[in-house]
Amino acid sequence: MKTEVLKVNPKEPEPEIIAQAAKVIREGGLVAFPTETVYGLGANALDEKAVARIFAAKERPTDDPIIVHLSSPAELPMVAAEVPPIAFKLAELFWPGPLTLILPKAKSIPDLVTAGLPTVGVRVPAHPVALALIKASGCPIAAPSANLFGRPSPTLPEHVVEDLYGRVELILDAGPTFIGVESTVLDITRPTPTILRPGGLPREALEEILGRVEVKTGPMPGPKPSPGLMEKHYAPKASLYLVIGENGALRSFLREKAEEAVALGIKRGFIIAEEDRESLRELPVIVQVLGSLKDPATVARRLFSSLRIMDALGVEDIYARDFGQEGLALAVHNRLLRASGGKVVILGGN
Ligand code: TXA
Ligand code: MG
Repeated sequence: MKTEVLKVNPKEPEPEIIAQAAKVIREGGLVAFPTETVYGLGANALDEKAVARIFAAKERPTDDPIIVHLSSPAELPMVAAEVPPIAFKLAELFWPGPLTLILPKAKSIPDLVTAGLPTVGVRVPAHPVALALIKASGCPIAAPSANLFGRPSPTLPEHVVEDLYGRVELILDAGPTFIGVESTVLDITRPTPTILRPGGLPREALEEILGRVEVKTGPMPGPKPSPGLMEKHYAPKASLYLVIGENGALRSFLREKAEEAVALGIKRGFIIAEEDRESLRELPVIVQVLGSLKDPATVARRLFSSLRIMDALGVEDIYARDFGQEGLALAVHNRLLRASGGKVVILGGN
């Protein structure tokens, strides 16, 4: 298939380009577009055939539900059978933004979108290009992240081209996404609101409004109990170890692992914080510095790119430091934990 790649202004999208993209959506085609979190692979959410093409293009199994994107909370009744008052309240506070709400699904949403679940995940993205595209298309847009199944979510247009060129009609290139990790998925159909996937909206922001919020991110990779509860995860070709510990112990450990790699001739990658840089100084290992420990927003923005770089460089294994679990760091922790497949190194005491 011929794929067109069009540059679009991220702040003031050109109406002609948006009109062209909307036409592709209305005709049942696929458009990769930027959101504030990661790039999405969009199709008309009400067109089952178009949605089927998303799964084919991504090589994604059909038991993984897709998020439906709206241009305004006013469209909620189009996709949800029931909208509790708390949904409107959260929408008012956090939309457009990186929050996906799980609600009972409306009949108009094909079962393929929700993987047969009685619920649907919905959000209004905070990106001018995404909002303009949904409006111009005149329909809700179903969009998973625009990566091939099993690869990190795309935060740069180059990532989308790498994964989906030749598989979709159109890729809208609006430069890097703003947040870099996917939306927070919040199930409000349960007695206690439950985060199914920590993401771009911090848990703390939700707790200010909702009181206690459970975090239930499903089992580690392996056989899945039921659709929707188990996200599909990026797993690097190399083994990734998530290292948790106090800074001093953590830095000594990383340095030891770097010296070991040099001694044994292993191509080893390190994912670290700005503050750790000194501890690996002058060692010929592959290092990705995500950002300062005090700046989890930058860390989140660089995470997926750094994983793609490690893959591209063909490292044999990766040691990634943990960035804590506060605010945006919880999403980073969750993605690294998933990528590690449970290979966690916990360093004791001082
Ligand atoms: O930021 C994002 O959420 C991005 C952008 C493109 O909006 N989208 C995204 O979609 O990350 P995707 O398909 O890669 O991840 C969506 C995840 C599913 O894997 C599933 O875990 C959860 O959202 N989900 C969607 N609908 C659900 C439902 N009805 N019940 C439970 N979980 C659901
Ligand atoms: Mg995804």
